[in-house]
Amino acid sequence: MSELIPILSSDEIESRLLDISKKISSDYEGKELVLIGILKGAFVFLADISRLLTIPVTIDFIRVSSYGDTTDSSGHLKLINDIELDIKNKNVLIVEDIVDSGFTLAYLIEHLKSFNPVSVKVCALIDKKERRKKNIKVDYFCHEIEGGFLVGYGLDYAENYRNLQGIYDLKL
Ligand code: IMP
Ligand code: MG
Repeated sequence: MSELIPILSSDEIESRLLDISKKISSDYEGKELVLIGILKGAFVFLADISRLLTIPVTIDFIRVSSYGDTTDSSGHLKLINDIELDIKNKNVLIVEDIVDSGFTLAYLIEHLKSFNPVSVKVCALIDKKERRKKNIKVDYFCHEIEGGFLVGYGLDYAENYRNLQGIYDLKL
């Protein structure tokens, strides 16, 4: 039997979102900002954080192949859907659910830089810092969590649990 252990309630998530949304709004005041959400996991986080920002933004999505139905990072990534907006001379903020090994972001940062934006920064809901294999700077993060396989608030295991309001550690 699998078990869901509560890690973060929706209130705890919201209070951190308020903090970082204020910081992002002030850092990008007067600049052209494009939020790029990494599908599918970041869809809830992007919807919530974007509505807390007090500056104008445009929004796009990108999709890369993920772990499939296992919980291990392969480091092999494939671009499934590219962005549609023109990000040349704009400031890009990548909105990611979890930064784990860092392979996904290392790949996406290089990819997005090829469109010649002014800047590319990273905003992540969860930073699993201890597990990093690639040197990635997470400019804005909500929570640092060491281990476990997390589900809920957009995060899945084999496409399940994305619609849970809080975040849970899934024990298989
Ligand atoms: P990385 O390339 O190893 O940094 O992996 C990042 C991606 O793996 C994220 O976009 C997540 O979708 C997924 N991921 C990493 N850890 C978890 C987890 O605990 N639960 C669900 N997805 C995860
Ligand atoms: Mg993901």
